[in-house]
Amino acid sequence: MKKQKLHNINQLYRGRLQEHFGGEVPLVFGDGNTDSKIVLVGEAPGRTEVEQGKPFVGQAGKNLEEFINILGISREDLYITNVVKFRPVRYNQDTGRESNRTPNREEIRISADFIEQELSIIKPELVVSLGNIALKCILKDDKVTIGNMHGSPINVKYAGSEFVLFPLYHPASIIYNRALKDVYLQDMHKLRNYMKKAELYMS
Ligand code: URA
Repeated sequence: MKKQKLHNINQLYRGRLQEHFGGEVPLVFGDGNTDSKIVLVGEAPGRTEVEQGKPFVGQAGKNLEEFINILGISREDLYITNVVKFRPVRYNQDTGRESNRTPNREEIRISADFIEQELSIIKPELVVSLGNIALKCILKDDKVTIGNMHGSPINVKYAGSEFVLFPLYHPASIIYNRALKDVYLQDMHKLRNYMKKAELYMS
């Protein structure tokens, strides 16, 4: 039932993007346990995600493993998705290579109502957002920033669902910033405590 509904909205999204780009683009849809009480929302897939057709694999998957280990859960316990389901790239004329970039306003706008529908189908109790894009998109508020909101739970109400949002920094943003990494780890322990209190998958 949930899988069929997700399939239906994914096909709508595919159609919308085809119109926008004037052709087919490779998409990476949400993956994991559709009955999960916990959903993880990232920004957009990267190269490895597109190659494997799965969110958070490759380097991002390694970051996810750390997340999972601290929280004492397994990947199978989660449903994992991204706001934008295609890989936004920048092309380097000199090297001829493509690299990841942050999705732009238009790309987020096209994708935003799909993440709302996706969450309304999964009906999680807890949504963990990674970074600014996912936070702004889920709260439908462009003014909020992760710097102000990280590490504290927020109640969110959509037409089709109600859940607690727990914003974290995006793991990619902490790689070169030691101070932020410490904050990220502290937030993760706050999240662990929150999950324990809420009896979400904790032993
Ligand atoms: N991979 C994803 O699937 N999402 C991100 O936000 C980053 C890497």
